[in-house]
Amino acid sequence: MGERYRALIVTVSDRASAGVYEDRTGPAVAELLVAHGYEVMGPRVVPDERPEIEAALIAAAEGDVALVLTCGGTGFSPRDVTPEATAAVCERMVPGLPEAMRAASAAVTDRAWLSRATAGIVDRTLVVNLPGSPRAATENLEAVIGPLAHGLDMLRGGPATCGQA
Ligand code: MTE
Repeated sequence: MGERYRALIVTVSDRASAGVYEDRTGPAVAELLVAHGYEVMGPRVVPDERPEIEAALIAAAEGDVALVLTCGGTGFSPRDVTPEATAAVCERMVPGLPEAMRAASAAVTDRAWLSRATAGIVDRTLVVNLPGSPRAATENLEAVIGPLAHGLDMLRGGPATCGQA
């Protein structure tokens, strides 16, 4: 369970931020987080612009949010820059989470390998990139939501003991 950690969802989409369509991914991810005991903030919707994505991540870290899940902007489109924005603000990278997400998703679609998603830590905040479609985002999150809570326990100085799995 998420031990009532605070999680912020940041949907990264030019079209959702311009109101061209409604963000359905953020609410789907929120539902999954709530079911796992997280206190959910957002979704906050920003365009595919590095400065705006980076500002949202930094503000979350400054606000002591435990977990930030970004949705979208991890593919090959010229405007997809979410992984670059994430890497720019993170002090320590966490490659295993996107590795696990891609491996689990590859059982569903071999396009999973096209995801450039990354994950990393800013101060006491963990940032994880998810893909942009509601189904892809929830499938990716389901692959890591169990171990995430243990990672947050370690990051936030809780009672985590790695040997007790
Ligand atoms: N993962 C799952 N589980 N299901 C999917 O349909 N789509 C892939 C990948 N990961 C997909 C997935 C595709 S087609 C792309 S391009 C990347 O996620 C990046 O998606 P994004 O550009 O919406 O972030």
